[in-house]
Amino acid sequence: MTFKIAIIAALAPNKSIGHADSLPWKMPRDMKFFRRSTADHVVVMGRNTFESLGCRPLPRRVNVVLTRTKSYSAKGLLVARSIDEAIDIARQHTKKERMFIIGGGSIYNQTETIADELYLTQIQKNDPKQKPLFDEEFYGDTFFPKLNRERWELCHISRRYKALDTLKPRPDPGSVNYYFRFFKFGRKSTCGCTDIEKAQVSKMKSLGEKIIYPI
Ligand SMILES: NC(=O)c1ccc[n+]([C@@H]2O[C@H](COP(=O)([O-])OP(=O)(O)OC[C@H]3O[C@@H](n4cnc5c(N)ncnc54)[C@H](OP(=O)(O)O)[C@@H]3O)[C@@H](O)[C@H]2O)c1
Repeated sequence: MTFKIAIIAALAPNKSIGHADSLPWKMPRDMKFFRRSTADHVVVMGRNTFESLGCRPLPRRVNVVLTRTKSYSAKGLLVARSIDEAIDIARQHTKKERMFIIGGGSIYNQTETIADELYLTQIQKNDPKQKPLFDEEFYGDTFFPKLNRERWELCHISRRYKALDTLKPRPDPGSVNYYFRFFKFGRKSTCGCTDIEKAQVSKMKSLGEKIIYPI
């Protein structure tokens, strides 16, 4: 069984993933998807992301935190000093076929060339056919790296879900409706997609909906 490195992230059309050490949105359904996908797996994250979670390890997962800070430790945490060390630790602590890189920006940047899979939640404005796709409403100081779409094969695309939560921060109070959908990509040069996944994607494409890709 090939051990896979999977990146999991939620991103806005302008690739924003974070603002002021937090997520720019509150999206319970995406959190549920994240929990379900990563449960019982090893998750690797940067120190900032760990601290943005309140310095509490995510339950039911093996938590690996990347830091160069000497003597950094917390209960229930494994610490790695480099990406290679984090991957070694992950291999040693799981029987699963994949590990998850869960952010933040600096860790996505350093792992995009070694990742085999991308689990991406794409966030969209009310009507994705309307341009621009509300970049202005997604404040961000942390961004997902720009990837070469040609290197990635689409393995799964969900339907669009409506979100009723507020985006944050916003210049004006009140909620906005927006949409999100889940994508999975496989790196063409390594695993790519399974035949079942390919068949499902072809079926989805045959429905004729214009797909706007998150990468
Ligand atoms: N939308 C999403 O899906 C998503 C997911 C996760 C996080 N986020 C957001 O992303 C933001 C945080 O991202 P960030 O880029 O600021 O920080 P980060 O990637 O979470 O953490 C950066 C820290 O990780 C350590 N580090 C980085 N590379 C390392 C390496 N090669 N070896 C050892 N340690 C290393 C360093 O810690 P030391 O300084 O201690 O050395 C560095 O300061 C937050 O806003 C968070 O909410 C968004």
